[in-house]
Amino acid sequence: QSFFNQKQLLKGKKILITAGATKEKLDPVRYFTNRSSGKMGYALAEEANKMGAEVTLISGSDHLPKPFGVNLINISTAEEMFQETMKYFNHADIVIKSAAVADYRPKIISPEKMKKKSGNLVVEMERTKDILLEMGQRKDQQFLVGFAAETNNIEQYAREKLKKKNADMIIANDVTAQGAGFAGDTNIVTMFHKDNSVKELPLLTKHETAKQILTEIVLKLGDD
Ligand code: CTP
Ligand code: CA
Repeated sequence: QSFFNQKQLLKGKKILITAGATKEKLDPVRYFTNRSSGKMGYALAEEANKMGAEVTLISGSDHLPKPFGVNLINISTAEEMFQETMKYFNHADIVIKSAAVADYRPKIISPEKMKKKSGNLVVEMERTKDILLEMGQRKDQQFLVGFAAETNNIEQYAREKLKKKNADMIIANDVTAQGAGFAGDTNIVTMFHKDNSVKELPLLTKHETAKQILTEIVLKLGDD
């Protein structure tokens, strides 16, 4: 496919992408996070831009270079990610939630550095908002895509998320598989659609995976 053909595929489309891990503070020097690197989301943002889309990237990673031509917004907590994504949600044509959002955050954030004491530390955690779930409830024209990084029962969990979150597509990956881990430059994903169709991709670079995902979305948009 030529550069120009590719470029047209998402022309005029507004895409909202989230990437990376969130960080939930415990005190001024400590936080809870997860192993998401943000690379998959950044690859999606870069490839979507190349395909002509107007891209907003809401990111919890602060170590990756800003993709060319993309509106990049850095956030740190799940709550900040919720606030920022909701500003763009109403006008988006496509939303891809590749971020690994914290499910819990410390209920109390200590304003001062916590000092160690004898014995165990128990930290009470409270639930964060499920951004994808909220989007699914408010969805209008948006084509809503979620990710599901799993270690087991991949297909079952992916299908459950598709339903529960009212998404149009869930992209699942087995994070225990060779070549599909967190920090790497490759991935192996399976796309589960609302219409029950399934598309499995082989081991590919995250950029190649991103192109295939975006092409699949274009195909599905054309079906409606
Ligand atoms: N997600 C979100 N907000 C959250 C948690 C998850 O928007 N607070 C989104 C993720 O960005 C991802 C999808 O929901 O696109 C699935 O995330 P995942 O962690 O796999 O699913 P959960 O619903 O959190 O379920 P669990 O962690 O128990 O598997
Ligand atoms: Ca989760």
